[in-house]
Amino acid sequence: MANDDNGGKDLTAADAHGARPSEASAGTAVVTRDAIGNPGFPPHRARMTDSDPTAERKAERSVYTLFYLSVVGSVWAIAAYIIFPIDAADPGSVRLNNLFIGLGLSLALLALGIGAVHWGKALMSDHEGIDIRHPVRGTEETRARAVEIFQEADQESGFGRRTLIRNSLIGALIAFPLPAVVLFRGLGPQDEDPVALLEHTMWKKGTRLAIDPSGRPIKASDVTLGSAFHVIPEGLQDLEHGKLEEKAKAAVLLMRLDPADLIEAPDRKGWSYDGIVAYSKICTHVGCPVALYEQQTHHLLCPCHQSQFDVTNHCEVIFGPAKRPLPQLPIAVDSEGYLIAQSDFTEPVGPSYWERH
Ligand code: FES
Repeated sequence: MANDDNGGKDLTAADAHGARPSEASAGTAVVTRDAIGNPGFPPHRARMTDSDPTAERKAERSVYTLFYLSVVGSVWAIAAYIIFPIDAADPGSVRLNNLFIGLGLSLALLALGIGAVHWGKALMSDHEGIDIRHPVRGTEETRARAVEIFQEADQESGFGRRTLIRNSLIGALIAFPLPAVVLFRGLGPQDEDPVALLEHTMWKKGTRLAIDPSGRPIKASDVTLGSAFHVIPEGLQDLEHGKLEEKAKAAVLLMRLDPADLIEAPDRKGWSYDGIVAYSKICTHVGCPVALYEQQTHHLLCPCHQSQFDVTNHCEVIFGPAKRPLPQLPIAVDSEGYLIAQSDFTEPVGPSYWERH
C-alpha cells in the first residue's frame, strides 16, 4: 500500500498503474486521476510466418531480395554518375545525370526501407510487452554515484590536473573542423572575388530580355495581360560553356498586370513598362527558383518552402520563411519594341549571406 495525497486515501500499486473508476468519499463524489481505465492490449493475432514454415521462408526470401535490390540501386547510382557526366555546355546532361542517379538512389532507399519494415513485421519476434515508464530523474544515490564516476575519471585521466594537455586538446578539437570551413572556399570561383560575383548579375543597361531557354528576345507586345515568362539576358546561352552559374543568378520572371493593380513606390515608378514587371526568380530564402505564378491573386509561390510574394506590391513576402522581397529588375522598351533592362538589379539576388550590404 502506498500513501497518496488524494484526500488521505490509500492507493494500491495496482491503482497507481491501472484503472480505478470514480468513487464516492464521505458523501462527496471524487473523480480519481485513474478514472480512464487502461484498455490493455488488443487480442494477439498470430502471423502466418509464426505457424507456416513455407510462409516464413517466403518472407525471408522477400527480405533478402529487397536488400540485394537496394545494393543494385546503390551500384546503379555510382555507375550513373560515371556514365552520365555533367557537361557544363549541355543543360540536358544535368537532367540525365540527376534522373539516373536519382532513380538509383530511390531504388536503394526504397528497397532498403521496405525490406527492413517487412523483416520487422513478418519475421522478428512478435512478443508484446509492457514497459512501465519510470521517473526520469535518478535517485539521489544514482546521481551521487554518477558524480563519483566523473570525479574518478577526472582523477585517473588527469584532465583537470594536467591543464596543458587539457587546453591543447580543447584547442585541437576546435581547430579540427576549421579546414572544412576553409575548403568551402573551393566551391567558389578561384580567380574572382566571390562577394563581388554575388553582388552583380549579367544584366546591364540595354540588355534585351530573352525567353528561357530559346534565347529569343521578347517584345512588350508579346507579353499579354495575365501572362508570365521565364526570362534570361540575351546572349547568355552563347557564353563560354553556357555559364550555368550566370543563368542561376540572372533568371527573371516577367509578368504583365493591369497597371491599375500595381502599387508602385515613387522611386520605382519608372521600373515597369505598361504593367509589365520583372523580378528575380531566385528565392530570397535559400535560393530555389520561384516558378509558380498565380494569375488571379498575382502571387508568386516558391515550391521549396512555400514562401509567397505579392507581385502587385514589389514582391513583398506575404507568407513563408523568406525575409526579403524578390529584387526587381528595372525594365524599359527599345526603339524596336523589345524589352530591355535599364540596369543590373539594384541589390544582390538570392538568399542573404554574411557580407551582403
Ligand atoms: S527557398 Fe523559397 S521558400 Fe525556401
